[in-house]
Amino acid sequence: MLTLTEVADDPLTLTRRLALNDASDVVFRPLVRTDADRLAGFLVGLSPETRRLSMFDGYDLATAQELCDAIARYDKLRLVLEEVPSGRIVGLLEFSLDLHPEDIARYRGAGIHLAPTDCRFGPTLADDYQGRGVGTQVFPLVTDVARRFGKKRVILWGGVLADNPRAIRYYQKNGFHSAGSFTGADGVRSLDMILDLDSLQG
Ligand SMILES: CC(C)(COP(=O)(O)OP(=O)(O)OC[C@H]1O[C@@H](n2cnc3c(N)ncnc32)[C@H](O)[C@@H]1OP(=O)(O)O)[C@@H](O)C(=O)NCCC(=O)NCCS
Repeated sequence: MLTLTEVADDPLTLTRRLALNDASDVVFRPLVRTDADRLAGFLVGLSPETRRLSMFDGYDLATAQELCDAIARYDKLRLVLEEVPSGRIVGLLEFSLDLHPEDIARYRGAGIHLAPTDCRFGPTLADDYQGRGVGTQVFPLVTDVARRFGKKRVILWGGVLADNPRAIRYYQKNGFHSAGSFTGADGVRSLDMILDLDSLQG
């Protein structure tokens, strides 16, 4: 089973080149410590609507640097999609390998008992990469990463906003099922969704 330290020491172990349906290529790889400027470019470029849907802590170089500094220091695994040949980061795919007590309690309320073999996942694509099927094309790589970390199920990191129909459809078509809903401190309703990796073919 892979560890975060192994990935940080050898990012190539999770690096894959992916040919997209439109004939362009992207590289799927772990975030590395030297990515801060490029990751900042990604965050700065996100539209207000994408920021509303994805909710990062910030959208600047300081946030990007924090994410790079966090590599292998906590339970987070961040992967990026890199456009070929520009090298521009066009997607950030985040895993949290440990569960949050609030998630455990909320899922228990829905009759689902989360376990250490479950993880949290959240994807964000650059605006010009959304709605082109890229998230779905990269999804088998995402599930492969989860499996290599010994995970059996994937839940949504922070849920998905109830008024984000594209993301909800995206999760459904990639095998996630509804697991209840909740209202955040800001009064906004979100949905919980869970994917059983054993339910996927291949
Ligand atoms: C969510 C996200 C990762 C999905 O990746 P993607 O590449 O855009 O998704 P795909 O194109 O593979 O699939 C989207 C599906 O939703 C459908 N869709 C698009 N807009 C929709 C809408 N308004 N209502 C319902 N379905 C919609 C698409 O038709 C497609 O389904 P189909 O293949 O059955 O036709 C990406 O859109 C994104 O980064 N969005 C902004 C940030 C975000 O919302 N992150 C998730 C936070 S929980």
